Amino acid sequence: MSKLRLGIIGCGWIAPFHVQALNRLSDRVAVVWAADPETERAERIAGSLTTGDAEVLGNYRDGLERVDAVSILVPHHLHHPITLDALQAGCHVLLEKPFALTLEEADDMIAEAEGQGKTLMIALPHRYRKSTQAFRQIIDSGDYGRLFMLDAFMDEDNREYVTGGWFVKKATLGGGVYFSASAHMLDVMLWIAGEVQSVSMVGANAGLPMEGEDTAISIIKFKNGVLGTTRHTWFSPKPHRWYTMRAYCERAVIALTVHPLGKLAVEGVNCAWSSQITVSEAGADEKVLLDSDEGLDLTEEVRHFFDCVESGAKPQTDGQVARQLMKVALDAYRDAEVTGAN
Ligand SMILES: NC(=O)c1ccc[n+]([C@@H]2O[C@H](COP(=O)([O-])OP(=O)(O)OC[C@H]3O[C@@H](n4cnc5c(N)ncnc54)[C@H](O)[C@@H]3O)[C@@H](O)[C@H]2O)c1
Repeated sequence: MSKLRLGIIGCGWIAPFHVQALNRLSDRVAVVWAADPETERAERIAGSLTTGDAEVLGNYRDGLERVDAVSILVPHHLHHPITLDALQAGCHVLLEKPFALTLEEADDMIAEAEGQGKTLMIALPHRYRKSTQAFRQIIDSGDYGRLFMLDAFMDEDNREYVTGGWFVKKATLGGGVYFSASAHMLDVMLWIAGEVQSVSMVGANAGLPMEGEDTAISIIKFKNGVLGTTRHTWFSPKPHRWYTMRAYCERAVIALTVHPLGKLAVEGVNCAWSSQITVSEAGADEKVLLDSDEGLDLTEEVRHFFDCVESGAKPQTDGQVARQLMKVALDAYRDAEVTGAN
């Protein structure tokens, strides 16, 4: 089978993580170009690809006709216009989270992908990680009884990441930390527990120079009766564990932790990681079920995108799934606006 011809649109912080995955999948993909108006960034990304010679573009529109698919890794307010451009040019799209700024934008993109008969997948990386998949399998096995609560926490110091530009404005970020990044926990929770019955959130700006909240807590009831909480801060003075999700089952607490061993915001893709799953049962010592160096590895996510493009299958995180997730955050914001909780 011939290789998928792909263009990269947006060559900022997350782009090297996509490059790492694309390089690992070089038997399936030829990256034809990397585009960014800041062309030195595009040059850096093109130079780090091992999937063949990639051209550097200042304007992605100059390359759309020459590729089958694009990875869109740009600020949130550009997700909608750039995705529409790419779909209208006949490209399949892998789009970074969050899907869009509004549900209307999301609906537009879903309709365009359907009309064009192209794959539209939203990059929600955590559910594609091997350790998160193992975490879900352990819960679903029922070995520890019925799940009744999911408790998640992202503990981040983003002082060196959120310094200006599009991150600090609600109009370009779409909100605060809850809209922008708590999706990393919420997507996994919805994937495990299903549809949301109700959600509410509180938020505050603890100190980052941004218009939206940098710290947010939400409580959720799922339709199947499971309870959920998310806590998220971008302003942690000393992160303990970057990502933790605890599943409370009848007979045990199963915990997934994912933790960068260096400074993630600065080291990016070069940062080393530790991922663990532990189980704690009454009267027994904590047991380690999984211990690995898996980090923010996007390989399985990107592989899934390629599989869907090739087979025409619906991606796990298609437009409808990502829209549902976005709606949870927007519903929580609406409620918080009425009560003054954010
Ligand atoms: N999966 C994750 O864990 C994760 C982590 C960080 C960011 N992200 C997502 O990745 C996306 C990008 O975030 P980032 O941190 O890399 O931001 P960034 O600001 O570091 O990079 C964005 C890049 O897009 C470029 N850009 C702007 N307009 C463009 C255009 N018209 N054409 C091409 N490029 C354009 C900018 O010049 C910049 O280089 C966002 O959707 C963000 O939410 C995901």
